[in-house]
Amino acid sequence: MEIVTERLRLRHARLSDAPAMHAVPSSSSAMAYWSSLPHQTPEQTRKWVAAMVEAAASGPGLDFVIEFEGRAIGKAGFWRPPEIGYILNPDYWGRGLAREALEAVIRVGFEIGGIEEIVADVDPRNAASLGLLERLGFVRTGFARETWEIGGVLLDSVYLTLKRPQPVA
Ligand SMILES: CC(C)(COP(=O)(O)OP(=O)(O)OC[C@H]1O[C@@H](n2cnc3c(N)ncnc32)[C@H](O)[C@@H]1OP(=O)(O)O)[C@@H](O)C(=O)NCCC(=O)NCCS
Repeated sequence: MEIVTERLRLRHARLSDAPAMHAVPSSSSAMAYWSSLPHQTPEQTRKWVAAMVEAAASGPGLDFVIEFEGRAIGKAGFWRPPEIGYILNPDYWGRGLAREALEAVIRVGFEIGGIEEIVADVDPRNAASLGLLERLGFVRTGFARETWEIGGVLLDSVYLTLKRPQPVA
């Protein structure tokens, strides 16, 4: 499956994405609130991309590499539906590209994935992610303490949801 938006192409991962994608999970700013520590080696990213390739082949196929001007700059989608996830190379932040990608994957999640309610689990300090989701209509539904242990530090979660739009009567 491939999604084309005004500026982006969203497509399933390929092993050849690993070198360009390494800039994403090796970035300490991109990984500041991620569910694992920044990658130290290209080999870690090769395995990360290989897992995406494998998941696209065997799973629901709702997780996508984001391509901008022919370059893989991040990923967005549903690694484990109905939870949404996304990460972009910081060189491309602040241009509305994440919003454009998420609008597309949300549509796919509802229309093709059959998801009734998309959920998100965000570190309360992650203002960019919370702002992005709320801009897209997500609402906060809860908060929990010490839900993650990353690098020996306990972290909290804010939960948000977006319900499938109801058809206009
Ligand atoms: C979250 C992330 C994807 C945002 O990417 P981005 O391309 O900079 O976002 P966009 O430019 O599309 O911004 C869309 C909206 O998000 C919100 N937003 C973006 N950055 C923000 C910030 N620093 N503070 C508050 N809101 C912000 C704004 O509402 C913005 O809407 P606007 O364009 O009308 O102002 C990016 O910061 C990222 O990859 N972070 C690291 C990975 C991550 O934390 N993923 C989420 C894990 S839960």
